[in-house]
Amino acid sequence: MKVTVLGAAGAIGQSLSLLLKMNLPNNSDLSLYDVSTATPGIALDLSHIPTSVKINGFHSVQIEEALSNSNIVLISAGFARKPGMDRSDLFIYNAKIIQSLIEEIATYTPNALIGIITNPINSIIPVAASVLKKAGVYNRSKLFGITTLDIIRSNTFVAKLKQKNPEKINTPVIGGHSGITILPLLSQLTQDYCFSEKEIYDLTKQIQNAGNAVLEAKAGGGSATLAMSVAATRFTLSLIRGLEGEKNIIEYAYVEGNEEYARFFSQPLLLGKSGIIEYRSIGYLSNFEKNMINNMLQTLNNDISLGEKFIE
Ligand code: LMR
Repeated sequence: MKVTVLGAAGAIGQSLSLLLKMNLPNNSDLSLYDVSTATPGIALDLSHIPTSVKINGFHSVQIEEALSNSNIVLISAGFARKPGMDRSDLFIYNAKIIQSLIEEIATYTPNALIGIITNPINSIIPVAASVLKKAGVYNRSKLFGITTLDIIRSNTFVAKLKQKNPEKINTPVIGGHSGITILPLLSQLTQDYCFSEKEIYDLTKQIQNAGNAVLEAKAGGGSATLAMSVAATRFTLSLIRGLEGEKNIIEYAYVEGNEEYARFFSQPLLLGKSGIIEYRSIGYLSNFEKNMINNMLQTLNNDISLGEKFIE
């Protein structure tokens, strides 16, 4: 199994690479790439950790070597928000970066599963899909916007409120990955937890604003990186388990699905040997959640069309 991280010298890239070095299956290949010439050194540093994961670092023009024969490519490259910015403000900086990296993937490892972390996810995944389509290698069951961070945050916040073990909670989160487009389906947890209307409202807002809270708390030092890396690691390990033929691997991610609500939408997915093998139903929605979906759609569709229009 070869996993490649593009943007490996950045704050998310480095912590993600560390977690992958510690957690990938035995004898996997971990390939780190970044424009930064420090990348081979980062790989050397990580190579001293005694696990059987083999690691190599590449920079600048060495992208072909970094990418070739990858089973999974993760992209964390690009700029992070500064205080006062919305995720969509990053589009003008990050869309071009994603375009060029996806072009390289289309050339050197067109069959890989691609997981993107770079913001704004809502618009960047449509850009990636268009680039792959133009190159004639788009397969919607292999392209994912990683939204697992919203799930792990939800689990943490629910656990704190209800004084439970967060590791035992798995909150479904659908929609997109910014503001009102992030929708935790807390009604689906009510078998185990009893929420008042106010608790549901407050938790939903807390989950939607969690990225902003970190951004403000870091006071100019960037946005969330560490929890994001944990989330991306969880998602990657699920992709691998699917690729290796394990059954019943379900994760939520922002993908081109069945267009029930929008062309791209985060929803439950059954993962398998070829990426997504089944688009699962979102399931029960409370009236509050149905309203929240209606309220998010204009924003989400605008975000999607921004991405779609980027590639002519
Ligand atoms: C997050 O949710 O923390 C990330 O999307 C980073 C950001 O800009 O908020």
